Amino acid sequence: MKKKILIAPSVLACDFGHVADEIAKVHDAGAAYLHLDVMDGMFVPNISFGPDFIRAIRPYSGAVFDTHLMILDPMRYIDVFADAGSDIITVHLEACGDVAGVLSHIRSRNVKAGLVIKPKTPVSELAPYLPLIDMILIMSVEPGFGGQSFIHSSLDKLREARKMIEESGYDIDLEVDGGIKPSNVKDVIEAGANVIVAGSAIFRAEDPAAAVKTLSGE
Ligand code: DX5
Ligand code: ZN
Repeated sequence: MKKKILIAPSVLACDFGHVADEIAKVHDAGAAYLHLDVMDGMFVPNISFGPDFIRAIRPYSGAVFDTHLMILDPMRYIDVFADAGSDIITVHLEACGDVAGVLSHIRSRNVKAGLVIKPKTPVSELAPYLPLIDMILIMSVEPGFGGQSFIHSSLDKLREARKMIEESGYDIDLEVDGGIKPSNVKDVIEAGANVIVAGSAIFRAEDPAAAVKTLSGE
């Protein structure tokens, strides 16, 4: 099944002093998603923003709010991130005690459930959870910071994940996150990704709207 390519600009790279304008601009340029990187300083060595920030920017963008929780024991915070306006909540397989319980809880809130793995976690570990998820996210950098270089072996992981999704028959999106630029976006799409996260390639570009169009192949 061929899926539409969706661009998910990562707010982490935008100018926080002008966040409302920046997110409206990229949505107007055709980015269907907005990627929200939540970091707790424990699961990853960096702190970003929390649910109050997401709630505050929610009125300024009509995009699908794609919340990527890089936090330990995310079950504690599913309800607050759902209430803040998330349309998708993605949790790290490595950060959950009861992975299936967290995913079921996300879905019980009428929010789509995503499951993400770090670069060193094998794709095969996702297999038991396919009936419980709407999206797989493959990290193509170590989570924690924007602006890192794409890890090339992520292409093999994307191919493996795409094959697993097709064989399962479930309707699951495949997202990729970290180091995506105009020079490698074709490779990740060919490898099977259909949701493309980009932080610095969009918000650090001279013209973020043009960068969205370039990444979506326009
Ligand atoms: C990394 C985050 C990414 C990051 C992507 O922990 O999950 O979403 O913001 O930024 P770039 O596109 O700059 O690698
Ligand atoms: Zn992310």
